[in-house]
Amino acid sequence: MSGRVRVLVHGASGRMGMTLLRLAADREDLCVCAAVSGRPPKQRVIDGVPYFGASELAGVPAFDVAVDFSLPGGFDALLALCLKRRAALVSGTTGLDDAQRAALESAGGSIPVLWASNFSLGVAVLQDLVARAAAVLSGWDCDIVESHHTRKLDAPSGTALTLGEAAAGQGATPHYASIRAGDIVGEHLVQFTSHGERIELVHRATNRDIFANGALHVAARLAGRNPGHYAIADVLSVDAA
Ligand SMILES: NC(=O)c1ccc[n+]([C@@H]2O[C@H](COP(=O)([O-])OP(=O)(O)OC[C@H]3O[C@@H](n4cnc5c(N)ncnc54)[C@H](OP(=O)(O)O)[C@@H]3O)[C@@H](O)[C@H]2O)c1
Repeated sequence: MSGRVRVLVHGASGRMGMTLLRLAADREDLCVCAAVSGRPPKQRVIDGVPYFGASELAGVPAFDVAVDFSLPGGFDALLALCLKRRAALVSGTTGLDDAQRAALESAGGSIPVLWASNFSLGVAVLQDLVARAAAVLSGWDCDIVESHHTRKLDAPSGTALTLGEAAAGQGATPHYASIRAGDIVGEHLVQFTSHGERIELVHRATNRDIFANGALHVAARLAGRNPGHYAIADVLSVDAA
């Protein structure tokens, strides 16, 4: 796209939303043109960005891509808006139900969409390592332990489920455990256990910036693409396009 990509941040008042807004302000490839939260905002404009509540979604200005880190309750309305406006959607919202996953899948026929349970480079590498370990450790127990802050609503985390899919794709049967404690940003331990030995693969996120930077990077590259269902690797691999 020529010029700055216009981004709508959905879930703007949340932990991820605020991180996205802070990091987007330093980027030259995009600008935030609207910030949407669940509840109506106390302040209508902050640093030049207009704020909206979920009930005011229809009135947001034109945008090229929505970056969504909110809760499942707001997802359907955002997806409908992106379809109506022919805008791209990047979503990291976890805990979507089957109907929402199906709606996202079919939206790929009309607009570019990208959902990922985790936007960090480290977890992408962990996913690859888990698949490789599961492929050779046939018959070993596979356990995934995820830890997050006490205000996280869904369990197991979306990332744990993605890691489990990587293991299951190679024949393992993953079991999950979830810990909710303090202010943990996100930790995932994938453990392969046999008799007398154990392999542990761990990723620890200590800062939300890794997820927000990944999502903004992807959003700037997804806007203006052909309709389709994209993965992070697809967008990065066509970086020069
Ligand atoms: N994929 C990844 O890499 C990744 C990384 C971290 C987190 N996440 C996921 O991102 C999501 C947000 O996490 P968080 O920690 O930022 O959560 P959070 O702090 O609880 O923030 C949630 C945000 O969603 C808004 N919201 C709630 N209902 C809404 C609705 N109906 N319409 C529009 N907005 C609505 C909230 O607005 P109000 O404050 O007004 O209610 C708030 O801005 C979660 O699903 C989490 O699992 C994904």
